[in-house]
Amino acid sequence: MKNIAIFASGGGSNARKIIEYFKDSDLAQVVLVVSNKKDAGVLDIARAHHIPTHLIHRADFYDTKEILAVLDEREIDLIVLAGFLWLVPGYLIEAFPRKIVNIHPALLPLFGGKGMYGAHVHAAVKAAGMKESGITIHYANEQYDAGDIIFQATCALNEEDTPETIAQKVLALEHEYFPRVIERVMSYEL
Ligand code: GAR
Repeated sequence: MKNIAIFASGGGSNARKIIEYFKDSDLAQVVLVVSNKKDAGVLDIARAHHIPTHLIHRADFYDTKEILAVLDEREIDLIVLAGFLWLVPGYLIEAFPRKIVNIHPALLPLFGGKGMYGAHVHAAVKAAGMKESGITIHYANEQYDAGDIIFQATCALNEEDTPETIAQKVLALEHEYFPRVIERVMSYEL
């Protein structure tokens, strides 16, 4: 059995899907939810599923390696970034080589990089008049949204789409594919 830690900063709808997907799995389970926001909805979701949580503070995350001990204690095999908005520090990338997977709500390399998260991404996609958007699941490295791509899925857009409807289409793709792609990564690469 492999152990997954989810890192998330927000509401956690992807985290919920992943937790539920692996609930009865023989392959993997979510054993830890880490957040940088004490009032993040994802922490309530974790508690409702009786999954331990850990709150990280900026100084500890970047200036100490405290999180490594937390991950070690839970014997974490894979870190899943599901709406986690802090850049992952180099020491953590080195400790988990190709074992940190991120989801981005656009078709990278378009609409990625610092400041490109959540609603900002969908507003930029709309402003550019794109005919499609989608999701990118990729390994995390020391830059925002720049690691090797594992999987992409697209959705068609039309002129009536707003940033809000684009967000809905993209989130539906995330919920459909993210748990399955994590499962594939765990079975083939770990
Ligand atoms: C997701 O759409 C995810 O792709 C995005 O944050 C959202 C979190 O939603 N991540 C980024 O923008 C990272 N750059 P959720 O909390 O409902 O899972």
